[in-house]
Amino acid sequence: MKPIKVGLLGIGTVGSGTFNVLQRNQEEITRRAGRGIEIAMVADLNVERARELTGGKCEVVNDANLVINNPDIDIVIELIGGYGIARELVLKAIANGKHVVTANKALLAVHGTEIFKAAQDKGVMVAFEAAVAGGIPIIKSLREGLTANRIQWIAGIINGTTNFILSEMRDKGLDFATVLKEAQRLGYAEADPTFDIEGVDAAHKVTLLASIAFGIPVQFDKAHVEGITKLQATDISYAEQLGYRIKLLGIAKRNGSGIELRVHPTLIPAKRLIANVEGAMNAVLVQGDAVGATLYYGKGAGAEPTASAVIADLVDITRLATADPGHRVPHLAFQPDAMSDTPILPMAEVTTSYYLRMNVADQPGVLADVTRILADHSISIDAMLQKEPAEGESRTDIIILTHQTQEKNVEAAIAKIEGLPTVMGTITKIRLEELS
Ligand code: HSE
Repeated sequence: MKPIKVGLLGIGTVGSGTFNVLQRNQEEITRRAGRGIEIAMVADLNVERARELTGGKCEVVNDANLVINNPDIDIVIELIGGYGIARELVLKAIANGKHVVTANKALLAVHGTEIFKAAQDKGVMVAFEAAVAGGIPIIKSLREGLTANRIQWIAGIINGTTNFILSEMRDKGLDFATVLKEAQRLGYAEADPTFDIEGVDAAHKVTLLASIAFGIPVQFDKAHVEGITKLQATDISYAEQLGYRIKLLGIAKRNGSGIELRVHPTLIPAKRLIANVEGAMNAVLVQGDAVGATLYYGKGAGAEPTASAVIADLVDITRLATADPGHRVPHLAFQPDAMSDTPILPMAEVTTSYYLRMNVADQPGVLADVTRILADHSISIDAMLQKEPAEGESRTDIIILTHQTQEKNVEAAIAKIEGLPTVMGTITKIRLEELS
């Protein structure tokens, strides 16, 4: 059988990784896919560089439209990124009857509903394993390997940049700004790291995971997004003393009649495997009712790890291209007409535990006032740490870990406690998940 023809839009880090891995492992990939997979065309604005990278082995053009309008191309790989031109090209490729492979989580998290509907109507596939956690086959695992389960929750370290920064802050006791500069110098963080450090990248990814896990439409606009920029080295150290590590988690969880969809710094017990995922590595913990907890670990970025995911999608599409569209694995794991309208809950209705740090006057009755307010809001204390006041100081830090409660209770209690004359400034609140 003739090889399936692929057009690549954008040959940067992941694109060149994909080209190289396909060349290197061509024989084994063909044996798996049942026919050859050939990148026949590459579109990139830097034609010279693209020619160098592909070594004359395929046609190079500077206009992506030449690829998506070419009737010989069966699959388009979109590695341009962003929401603008990428959306336009993906929709045009679908309209032209091409299957699409993309690593673009931002595009799918924001415009996924439109894109998957267009693909469904046209009978083509949109595959996106590379969009979440790079080389870790988490989409495949959730959509197929765990298909027997009612998924209860997912908690993932799905942004390598922030995990690197948090690991360095903990190891070296440095503050956020210092580590960010170092991460940029070493190439772990981008020149403009906003999407990573503000939690947006992780929120794009967990939005996609939530859709596949629960069969709900992609709803990035409903996700709670909180990054690590305000995290203090003090809290990382106090958390450690209480037996916890702080990680930026993407969490998707069933809760009563709704779904929690949130990204924020989170205390997790130091003894959990996922708490020990360090540096730029990614890991996703999935709790299913039948299987229990399963953990997926690996590289969340980089040329060849991400290429591994892109090529897995190419092989899947190659195998299924001739199948009746009704018999393919649905884009979002659930059949399009069986999607659920379970709402994403507002943060006030989220249920979790909390780390609260407050600076108080070291005098009788202060703790009693604080604990009374917590009790009045039905908040139960799980653990407490009180530091000795520094030499000559009459103030000290108190750290309280709560049992599970609703966020609205904690917010109301914090407002009351901050109003006490013995409590200085604002209270630091970090959410805590036992992940058990
Ligand atoms: N910027 C991402 C990260 C990698 O730091 O994990 C691409 O998704």
